[in-house]
Amino acid sequence: MLTLSSALLLCGCGRSDAPRSVRITATVAAPVTASPPASAASSNATAASFYAQPFERKPDAAALTEMGRALFSDVALSASGGMSCASCHDPAHGFSPPNRLAVQLGGADMKQPGVRAVPSLKYQQDTPPFSEHFSDTDGDDSADQGPTGGRGWDGRASSAHEQAAIPLLSPFEMANTDSAAVVARLRRSASAARFRQTFGEHVLDNESLAWNGVLLALEVFQQSPADFYPYTSKYDAVLRRQATLNDAERRGFQLFEDPAKGNCAQCHISIIKRGAFPQFTDRGLIALGLPRNPQIPANRDPAYRDMGLCGPLRSDFAAQADYCGLFKTPTLRNVALRGSFFHNGVIHTLEDAVAFYAERDVHPEKFYPKGRDGRTAKFDDLPASAQANVNTEAPFDRHPGDKPALTKREIADIVSFLRTLTDGYDGHDLQRERASATSSIKPQSNVLAKKATG
Ligand code: HEC
Ligand code: HEC
Repeated sequence: MLTLSSALLLCGCGRSDAPRSVRITATVAAPVTASPPASAASSNATAASFYAQPFERKPDAAALTEMGRALFSDVALSASGGMSCASCHDPAHGFSPPNRLAVQLGGADMKQPGVRAVPSLKYQQDTPPFSEHFSDTDGDDSADQGPTGGRGWDGRASSAHEQAAIPLLSPFEMANTDSAAVVARLRRSASAARFRQTFGEHVLDNESLAWNGVLLALEVFQQSPADFYPYTSKYDAVLRRQATLNDAERRGFQLFEDPAKGNCAQCHISIIKRGAFPQFTDRGLIALGLPRNPQIPANRDPAYRDMGLCGPLRSDFAAQADYCGLFKTPTLRNVALRGSFFHNGVIHTLEDAVAFYAERDVHPEKFYPKGRDGRTAKFDDLPASAQANVNTEAPFDRHPGDKPALTKREIADIVSFLRTLTDGYDGHDLQRERASATSSIKPQSNVLAKKATG
């Protein structure tokens, strides 16, 4: 029988040093400003004590998965009574939002806007904890790849259980005042009976134990292959030699790979590596210099800047100027199911997202507003001191007057290829169905977007 320790193995975070008695709540209790533990060693110690929880019952991975599945969509765990993890991470949209809003509304009154776009939760199973100097353990690839990993756009949570605490306690998400409030809501919810069945009859009498049970179940659910990493896209069928790309998709794939054209695969890994199917991300944190998004209400304050790795949502690198503007490279799997792109959701179509790569430096006026001096204010979401951090490798290696790295037709081809990354391919040409899945994100959401800023 699988036990808690096998759940530990499943999540890949079992590398533990000497356990220290640090409760997970200590590192994640403060929403928004939550900082990860100071060092990898203390992170490991925290993880070790988290997994060492003495539950009355030892649930197996299947029981934990089903418990987590129930909690993931249980609106009773929110202060509003109307929001669950699935409200923002909708399974029908690749665990991304079911609308085009740049940021979602939450809180006790369901009117509090968030500050970042909601990422997909799929294909996160092998995300390593954040590290400043990441290198693949493999001998031939041991160069320092810089800041890599962690959960969230800035990598500030080191595991899925640590991450799960953030939305439960964030005032603009599920808005519980503390972990005790979550457990109190759980006691009264329809999930209570299953929770006792899973962890033991008395688990809900022990607040810290019950809280950790919630986080553990949510973590293990997010490791369920059928839900989170099924590898059922057309591209996966192609890798298994069970399907072939059509002409546009094949051209798109070649442009995606070509270092002189899209150069996308440099960060969005696209080929089988060491026997593992590609996740379309190397989990690296990189600055792309996206335009400031006026649709995010927090941005009405000109002094507010979301600079990712250097803050303000994480605070441990506030003094590290060369980390300002860095955000985690997301997976591109299921990206066609998303209605807003990049950490601030400033772009709303895949065509525009790819055009940003091709034209950011050639036609910056297409993306950035004019500054007071009448000139295009490139990288307007970063202070001048951080603009040097922005990536300038291909296709970002051009200047006004140069030819864009990709033509309109080539951008369309890359988009065709990206649409082969949507799970649920059944051997037929799903192009049409995919298109309708995307258009089920109704334009009326744009009205909501305006409301969110007004
Ligand atoms: C109101 C919308 C909302 C709700 C509800 C919500 N999330 Fe999220 N989630 C987000 C946003 C926004 C981010 C990105 C946060 C950041 O980068 O600071 C995120 C990030 C994540 C991540 C990190 C993904 C990555 O790319 O590293 C995980 C894991 C996650 N959420 C799990 C959950 C779970 C589990 C729940 C329920 C307990 C939940 N979320 C509820 C909005 C939401
Ligand atoms: C140097 C690394 C790098 C390269 C090269 C790169 N990307 Fe990205 N990509 C990123 C990072 C980092 C982000 C997130 C940036 C942010 O939100 O601030 C991202 C985000 C995206 C997104 C938004 C996904 C989402 O869920 O919001 C799309 C789409 C995308 N990339 C497509 C591409 C394509 C197509 C190419 C090639 C033309 C490409 N990328 C090349 C690093 C890279």
